[in-house]
Amino acid sequence: MVATLEGTASRCGDRRVAATRHSAFYGNLRPQLYRLIESETVDPVRNPYAPGAGQRPPELAGRDRELRQFEVVLERVARGRPERSMIITGLRGVGKTVLLNSFRSMAIQRLWGTGKIEARPEQSIRRPIASALHMAVRELAPRHRAPDRIERFLGVLKSFAQSGPEDEAKGRARAHRWQPGIDVPATRGRADSGDLEIDLTELFVDAAEVATDVGAGIALFVDEMQDIPADDVSALCAACHELSQSGGPLIVVGAGLPHLPAVLSASKSYSERLFRYARIDRLDRESADIALLAPAEREGVTFTPEALDALYGAADGYPYFVQAYAKVVWDVAPDSPITADDIRVAAPEAENELAVGFFGSRYERATPAERDYMRAMAALGDDPVPTSAVAEELGRKPSSLSPARDGLIKKGLIYSAERGVVAFTVPHFGRFLRAQPV
Ligand SMILES: Nc1ncnc2c1ncn2[C@@H]1O[C@H](COP(=O)(O)OP(=O)(O)OP(=O)(O)O)[C@@H](O)[C@H]1O
Ligand SMILES: [Mg+2]
Repeated sequence: MVATLEGTASRCGDRRVAATRHSAFYGNLRPQLYRLIESETVDPVRNPYAPGAGQRPPELAGRDRELRQFEVVLERVARGRPERSMIITGLRGVGKTVLLNSFRSMAIQRLWGTGKIEARPEQSIRRPIASALHMAVRELAPRHRAPDRIERFLGVLKSFAQSGPEDEAKGRARAHRWQPGIDVPATRGRADSGDLEIDLTELFVDAAEVATDVGAGIALFVDEMQDIPADDVSALCAACHELSQSGGPLIVVGAGLPHLPAVLSASKSYSERLFRYARIDRLDRESADIALLAPAEREGVTFTPEALDALYGAADGYPYFVQAYAKVVWDVAPDSPITADDIRVAAPEAENELAVGFFGSRYERATPAERDYMRAMAALGDDPVPTSAVAEELGRKPSSLSPARDGLIKKGLIYSAERGVVAFTVPHFGRFLRAQPV
């Protein structure tokens, strides 16, 4: 008995979605092929799975709703309709970066100009935004009928890029100014006040005009958005707000940890009306099966239903874990179908790889005091925990633990979506810590 995509699709009760997405594959799936699949060897060279940060999965499973929502956003913005932009949030390894990249591909397919930044703590977004917008406008430039308008915009962009506080300090020595790689002279007097809110607003309005001229839009993608420094986040929200009122075809699409909505509302109260939040989570059983089966069957390999049960039990539907287990299982399995026994043989190696690459690399970033804090959290279970309970567990005063807690939030290891409560950003991190020798 083998599990097939077709079986999975009908079990999930939504044949239509699976059938459209896999129609090419379905067309060929005949009983003879099942027999072929059953005897096929599993070739490590053709291993399709892709564990790794931002690695494009061989099958983007379970994200149809978000993809459809973004399609609507693009269409509405293109038609000049008022539209909120999208922000994807979720735990580490659920596929935010991958989804953001898919959104970017959708915008590129519509011939929009696009650019992307990855925010870093304590780094102003001025220069990264300038580079991303430069890239977006370069994509549009060849279709623009008035090259001088593009030149004018690039002049403003250059001036914007050089107007940060750090450039101000070095202003006396123009030769030492940061050169953003834009080969037109900087145009003074617009988007160069040094106040990021004013400058971003002017820059976005001008960029949106360029996009309007070519009948397209511009989409800027911001990954790890929770890391943008507070003042810059507030400036970015204000610029988006201004733009949403003028209806210009430029959107900022973000991705970040679960507390990102709280970060944005703390910065501007109207941010909830500015963005549509899409929280993505672990894959449900049907989507996890599709994530495993679709790439395998394209290589003529499949899994038994028991193997799929065992894999869902081990990976718990978390996309990173799904890819990590599947990758090792494929290399271990002698032939198709892959069985529950193959999963049992592969599990220790997969767990080991996760312990080193996914959990361990993050744990090592923490200081000894931060590690104690996380161990105390882990001892309290897997749900979000009150900071007061962590203090009690450590026998310390809550205020004395603030540096450790803040350090962990800054490092993206824990988050606080609600005052006085903390949780791990990494799925199964509590379990990992409890299994470590003290
Ligand atoms: N929808 C999906 N179906 C199958 N696999 C997926 C899916 N989304 C992501 N993955 C896989 O999960 C892994 C993690 O994806 P990604 O790096 O996008 O997560 P993330 O949420 O950005 O994590 P982080 O918070 O650490 O940046 C990658 O190996 C990717 O291939
Ligand atoms: Mg990511």
